[in-house]
Amino acid sequence: MSSVTARDWIASKGTPLRGEFVVPGDKSVSHRAIMLASLADGVSRIGGFLEGEDARATEAIFRSMGVRIDAPEAGSRIVHGVGIDGLRAPAAPLDCGNAGTGMRLLAGLLAGQSFDTTLVGDASLSKRPMRRVTVPLARMGARIDTGDGGVPPLHIHGGAALQGIDIETEVASAQVKSALLLAGLYASGTTTVREPHPTRDYTERMLQALGWPVEFSPGFARLEGGHRLVARDIVVPADFSSAAFFIVAATLVPGSELVLRRVGMNPRRTGLLHVLRLMGADIRETPAGEQGGEPVSDLVVRHAPLRGIEVPVEHVADMIDEFPALFVAAVHAQGATLVRGAAELRVKESDRIATMATGLRSLGAEVDETPDGATIHGSGQLRGGVVESHGDHRIAMAFAIAAQLADGEVRIGDIANVATSFPGFDTLATRAGFGLRDA
Ligand code: S3P
Repeated sequence: MSSVTARDWIASKGTPLRGEFVVPGDKSVSHRAIMLASLADGVSRIGGFLEGEDARATEAIFRSMGVRIDAPEAGSRIVHGVGIDGLRAPAAPLDCGNAGTGMRLLAGLLAGQSFDTTLVGDASLSKRPMRRVTVPLARMGARIDTGDGGVPPLHIHGGAALQGIDIETEVASAQVKSALLLAGLYASGTTTVREPHPTRDYTERMLQALGWPVEFSPGFARLEGGHRLVARDIVVPADFSSAAFFIVAATLVPGSELVLRRVGMNPRRTGLLHVLRLMGADIRETPAGEQGGEPVSDLVVRHAPLRGIEVPVEHVADMIDEFPALFVAAVHAQGATLVRGAAELRVKESDRIATMATGLRSLGAEVDETPDGATIHGSGQLRGGVVESHGDHRIAMAFAIAAQLADGEVRIGDIANVATSFPGFDTLATRAGFGLRDA
């Protein structure tokens, strides 16, 4: 079966989940590896590169700006960096596909170029808010036009003289922080970003690894323009957000025991582990060294009964991509689970509060939406039915988990975008024991 061409899945109870798996490379790190290796002096090899559509869209964009990128085999790239000022004007608009990360980071990076560019995306990305990057970038001197209402396409005027700023961002967003830091590479003076809650720091870590001086700590990052990046081999760790679907599935399906090898454990990504453990999950973690400067661990996940909790707001930013899976876990917990302070979920690839609440309700769960979260009443019981993923990869995978505990088949609509972050999810999931097939 191929998740790239299938439109719908039929998912249903499988067997207890068993086996040892390595999930694909991290999406956030793969985007940044292409971008920074392209701007470096010299040749960088990237290992563990995510062969997903989002990261490949970024790769195609850099090729169209004159960067030679060889793909000797799946998961590896050889990037012939052109230097910090070496990109060339592309002949056509740059298509970011489904990738908010690609578009928002590029908005900052391209604001510092000498040439004009246009960034476009698919139907979902074309509805997502871009003022969160264009407004602070304008304060640095960037000239970026958006579509009506602040959505893509973005027309970025080249030749702007950027100046560094000291800014406290309104939303806790690694994409916004990264856009400002990437513009800061081309700005005069110092760019300082302060965040309301700390977010993933891959941009800072990778800039530093490639020789650009960066000062950073949780919730704070500072750099100055005028340095150079030096090529270096980059190893992309396995994506915690992809592992999360297997962590939740093995926790929920009775009799399961799954081993997930060398999962990226950046503390700004692993909030789900804290929350699942508070709910009673049995997840054992053995540190397995570092990959690409990131801590990685082997995880052993066994089925365990869960209890509902109030998700501590301080963990929300560290598990922002894991809420679709957490909603499914909460349905199977005893008692209610309260999610608050997660309004950002409404502007992801879909409105993840609404799409999860609607789909879970149609399978028999009781879910009350609030503007910034939901209360999920643990019923422990779901029936078969039809749910829509609205083209959102993480929603499609979350419902595939839900179906493993439903009495009856679940048809999951519009699943092709699973290939943006987790190509081959269906193959790995069926190997683990999921009941899952193309419709
Ligand atoms: C990402 C940041 C997060 C996350 C997204 C990847 C990144 O988005 O949801 O999947 O790579 O910087 P926000 O910055 O909008 O929180």
